[in-house]
Amino acid sequence: MIKINFKRANSFSANSENKFYLLDKKMNLAELENLYDGLAECLQAHKFSGEAGQACLLLKKTADKIQKFFFVGIGSLEKDSSLDAMDAYRNGLGEVVSLAKKHALSQLELDPCLNFFAEKNADELLQDICTTLQLAGYEFNTFKKDAKKDFSCTVSLLVSEKVNFDESKVLFEAKIIADAANFVRSIADMPPNVAHPEYVAQKAREVGNECPDLQINIFGQAKAEELGMEGFLAVGSGSKHEVKFVEIKYQAKNPTTRTIALVGKGVTFDSGGISLKPSHAMSGMKYDMCGAISVLGIMKAISQLKANVNVVGLMPLVENMPGGDCYRQDDIITHMNGLTSEVQNTDAEGRLILADAICYAEKFHSPEIIIDIATLTGACVVALGHFFTGMFTNHQPLADSLKKIGDKVGDYVWQLPCTEIYAQGITSNVADVANCGKSNFGGGAITAAMFLKKFVSKAKWVHLDIAGTEAELPVKSYLGKTATGVTVRLLTKFIQESF
Ligand code: BES
Ligand code: ZN
Ligand code: ZN
Repeated sequence: MIKINFKRANSFSANSENKFYLLDKKMNLAELENLYDGLAECLQAHKFSGEAGQACLLLKKTADKIQKFFFVGIGSLEKDSSLDAMDAYRNGLGEVVSLAKKHALSQLELDPCLNFFAEKNADELLQDICTTLQLAGYEFNTFKKDAKKDFSCTVSLLVSEKVNFDESKVLFEAKIIADAANFVRSIADMPPNVAHPEYVAQKAREVGNECPDLQINIFGQAKAEELGMEGFLAVGSGSKHEVKFVEIKYQAKNPTTRTIALVGKGVTFDSGGISLKPSHAMSGMKYDMCGAISVLGIMKAISQLKANVNVVGLMPLVENMPGGDCYRQDDIITHMNGLTSEVQNTDAEGRLILADAICYAEKFHSPEIIIDIATLTGACVVALGHFFTGMFTNHQPLADSLKKIGDKVGDYVWQLPCTEIYAQGITSNVADVANCGKSNFGGGAITAAMFLKKFVSKAKWVHLDIAGTEAELPVKSYLGKTATGVTVRLLTKFIQESF
């Protein structure tokens, strides 16, 4: 865990034992020479050139102790894209935290070298830095017998008196957002033999107890049957764990505000069902509930930030398993709004539960905006890889503002088409729609989005396919190797800023 404070000064304090400095390839060392004699030669001797991914530790003996100077490379910031520059910078911050873990530091001073970003808004930049450091501090050690005591380190950020920013607001908001994302990660990383639908529902109850502004309503099979949520029930029918539907309400103080609904796919494990996945594709399917868990984390954050909009969070929670009672290929399902879908593949289960959850949102909350978050398709991973979430919409201005916010906070989205021609890829001979795209249409992420679009009747809608971004990113030091908490930064900021 990383705790942060600000030190309003231009340079490291003399008594700090662990000093961290970020260097780009231009390596402006002049101001550091008086801190460390012969710095340039020492860095050169270590072949440190400021390249991203490089780090160098120099020691300095003073009268009574040894001081550690850590230099972390962030590469060339003069790239065409400011996204590249910020990515390299955030990864540098991730490297700072890895070094702090490796050297078991309980305290360090970090010069964040704000001059790299002279043109940026100081509040936003510092909030980004604080959030990134706290995200980098996340670890998942729950099941390791010999895991060391949880890592904890206080980072003092050096910021010159001349920089104008709202110190307490930056710390407050960054902590809420990073804590929410880390909370999401800590549940998402839980194994599927523990994190079944009831376990996740219990987590939602706990959030409700912690946040008095949130109202939690949870129901199971009987109520879902009454409501006609056949897609939701069908997907859960092969599991010994009962389905759970979690509804979380946040009411803004101003009663005339509009409503936004967040709907998250909550498949606690996706075996594929009777259309069983091959083993290599089944590993990692505990993360198939990440959409729903993100909804829980975002609801927690917006209630703590006291956002000025009504928000409803919906989490359909099921386990997709094969078994004597499971749903099958060729089944026809009648969803809550009367639309029928033909099951052509039980592994395309996410859209079936989301369809009912979207109907539920529209029937009971008439939201102006629906945003669904789902680990929906392997095809999205093929299309975009691991660094951009796939985005689909029926309302372009909404997508535009999400793109802008994602770029700013480092939670990136990339829009894919969602035009009606693709709907011809999910027609069925026997039902209103098929749950699987025709193979000659390709674009599996898009046909999946088209399926969801059919269930949106009035709302402005965005679908976020997080199949590639939810966990196990190959690089990105600050997000680590497990769940990422993707969309928490994006949607919390969106909700905070858009209303
Ligand atoms: N949960 C998977 C999608 C997924 C794949 C998430 C890889 C994360 C990583 C989803 O339920 C699924 O299996 N989709 C199928 C759809 C197909 C059968 C139409 C897929 O993508 O193969
Ligand atoms: Zn599936
Ligand atoms: Zn799935």
